[in-house]
Amino acid sequence: MLPFTAPESTGPAAPRGRGQLGPTGRPIPVLRDPEPIAEHGNARVISMCNQKGGVGKTTTTINLGAALAEYGRKVLLVDFDPQGSLSVGLGLNPHEMELTVYNLLMDPETDFHDVVVPSGVPGVDLLPSNIDLSAAEVQLVHEVAREQTLQRVLAPAIAEYDVILIDCQPSLGLLTVNALTASDGVIVPLECEYFALRGVALLKTTIDKVKARLNPRLEVDGVLGTMYDGRTLHGREVLERLVQAWGDKVFHTVIRRTVKFSDSTVAGEPITSYASTSAGADAYRQLAKEVAQRWADA
Ligand SMILES: Nc1ncnc2c1ncn2[C@@H]1O[C@H](COP(=O)(O)OP(=O)(O)O)[C@@H](O)[C@H]1O
Ligand SMILES: [Mg+2]
Repeated sequence: MLPFTAPESTGPAAPRGRGQLGPTGRPIPVLRDPEPIAEHGNARVISMCNQKGGVGKTTTTINLGAALAEYGRKVLLVDFDPQGSLSVGLGLNPHEMELTVYNLLMDPETDFHDVVVPSGVPGVDLLPSNIDLSAAEVQLVHEVAREQTLQRVLAPAIAEYDVILIDCQPSLGLLTVNALTASDGVIVPLECEYFALRGVALLKTTIDKVKARLNPRLEVDGVLGTMYDGRTLHGREVLERLVQAWGDKVFHTVIRRTVKFSDSTVAGEPITSYASTSAGADAYRQLAKEVAQRWADA
């Protein structure tokens, strides 16, 4: 038994593994390429959120961002984890950053445009972070409208980008609440392993509280199975449980486990350029299509 109670059941799981059924046990829909965009702006803000570490938040932020940029979207990535993995994963040196998200949050004199840097990926910019951000968690407690601080500093970016992806830290503290308050949607990456579902109920409660008290716009855009190994029974079982619990919120796209992701991090670039024709790169392009389709249909 998995340590998880499904809030609602979508009936018996569909038979797996034959025909056009995907790894989530449902027929894979036909996904169209995202429509070209004539004019940039009116960004949709998405938090990549799960209080568990090592589930693929940072990897998904980089690679979904890069894939959306391939489809012509202007993308801003926000490193909102004091560990700075997103910044490092894009080749930045944490000791050489002059201004970071920390300055933007804490100093009213710092302007968004002073902090944003090109990410090295065409069409993708980055708001970098390093360990300084850990101080913000403590200092923000004393601020007026402390939960709305990130939303306020991101306001000038909304008109310039199509998509803003916020890479959250692995906790449900004040920084993550800031990210959720600034967002239209949440994507929850979940490792396809036993115990992955532990804590998801708490995450759901946090999302519901932020929606009720701070940000009525907030929606769960999707739940993403990551590090999937189709050869193991329990990977498939976790996906089955996910679909029982979250229904259509579970993306048909599933990210398989491959060392190419750690290799591309070492290289400081997304998998879409590091190993452009790999299955991992294709999976994130597929996710970009699925995400764009959900937004278009919403
Ligand atoms: N699909 C995958 N297959 C194999 N390794 C992965 C995959 N996705 C991420 N990783 C690796 O797992 C580690 C944790 O991923 P990361 O995206 O940093 O998680 P988080 O941001 O949730 O802590 C990293 O070393 C990353 O390269
Ligand atoms: Mg991370």
